[in-house]
Amino acid sequence: MSSPYLNLKVVDITHETADAATIHFEHPDKQNITYKPGQFLTLILPIDGKEVRRSYSLCSTPAEAPRLSVTVKRVAGGLVSNYMLDTLQVGQEVRVMEPLGNFCLTCAPTNQRQVLLFGAGSGITPLMSILKAVLREEPGSKVTLLYGNRNEHSVIFKEQLQQLQASNPERLHVEYIYSQPAYDCEHRGRMNQSMILRILERLRLARIDNAVYYMCGPAGMMEEVRHALDVLHVPADRIYRESFVSSSAQDKQEGPQHGTVLSADDGSEVSTQTVKVIYEGAEYSFTVEPDQTILEAALEQNIDLPYSCQAGLCTACRGKCLSGKVYLDESDGLSEAEMEEGYTLNCVGHPLTPDVVIEIG
Ligand SMILES: Cc1cc2nc3c(=O)[nH]c(=O)nc-3n(C[C@H](O)[C@H](O)[C@H](O)COP(=O)(O)OP(=O)(O)OC[C@H]3O[C@@H](n4cnc5c(N)ncnc54)[C@H](O)[C@@H]3O)c2cc1C
Ligand code: FES
Repeated sequence: MSSPYLNLKVVDITHETADAATIHFEHPDKQNITYKPGQFLTLILPIDGKEVRRSYSLCSTPAEAPRLSVTVKRVAGGLVSNYMLDTLQVGQEVRVMEPLGNFCLTCAPTNQRQVLLFGAGSGITPLMSILKAVLREEPGSKVTLLYGNRNEHSVIFKEQLQQLQASNPERLHVEYIYSQPAYDCEHRGRMNQSMILRILERLRLARIDNAVYYMCGPAGMMEEVRHALDVLHVPADRIYRESFVSSSAQDKQEGPQHGTVLSADDGSEVSTQTVKVIYEGAEYSFTVEPDQTILEAALEQNIDLPYSCQAGLCTACRGKCLSGKVYLDESDGLSEAEMEEGYTLNCVGHPLTPDVVIEIG
């Protein structure tokens, strides 16, 4: 089996806004790295004596090979985003996991479709890859982007988007939405259901059956898009969503909720449990506290289990539950068939019973 790890060299850094930069990588041998538009790269960085991993969507397209690019937006107090923006240098080598992710689009030159993209803030990154791929690979398709930002100065890729619009005036349309605009603008406020419906009606995109819909941004924005698409009766199999933050991370960010516990549908509750994990021929038993995921507890014990996005999205941490029950904060990464077969995701999994045994591999 080939290694999922690669060493890439930083070949350039583009400053996009005051708090976002694009890091361009190449393989030292200029080897092409295979990926699909919309997939992400997981960076493995040594910070403060520890190895930390974070995923970043590729904003480049495979046609830009051998270059792969990710855009990082600073998160206040965030370990890796601040390290990347303040410390990473051209020439430095970074260990990465090969591209992963299901939020992707496969282009075919004969396709004639409408590709509708909804993004906000750093959520533009995978959409940019998809947008560029469609413009290049599907001459008969059109792209519409609804793009939310705080103001005109926080728009990542503004110049690139303007250039792409100028060279594809009939095929690319962008609607900018600003929550706190510095100047007069057409769409003021956060992207919400009524605004989305209004824009799609005006662009005559509300009632079409040859469209695919991709959304990436904060949970609130994605809910609004989802509601709007429900009103338009868009079938679920045409809608793709990517989240950068898992619901458990969001809950932690919103602060502890005293007296509440995660509960499974059948009423069982998450409590302190010991789990057994079987990985590469070794068996590990460790305790998982109610506010920890199985992966977090393992890493705290220096048990080196596989993982990547830590958001229940990429399946790098997937294991099969041989006994016991596991509650998942997020199950988007697993298909229904995988769930029925007992697969679980350690990065978003909490043991519900004392007999949990998970086999990885
Ligand atoms: C599939 C995937 C693709 C991603 N693509 C990108 C990308 O293209 N560009 C990009 O900038 N980021 C992207 N992210 C987010 C990225 O992986 C990191 O989570 C982000 O950079 C924060 O890491 P940190 O170490 O700086 O913050 P941490 O030290 O991990 O967190 C600090 C605090 O910030 C909160 N937090 C973490 N992430 C966010 C966030 N995105 N927004 C607001 N609060 C947050 C945490 O809950 C915590 O409270 C992606 C994540 C996933 C799962
Ligand atoms: S690490 Fe990506 S799904 Fe768990």
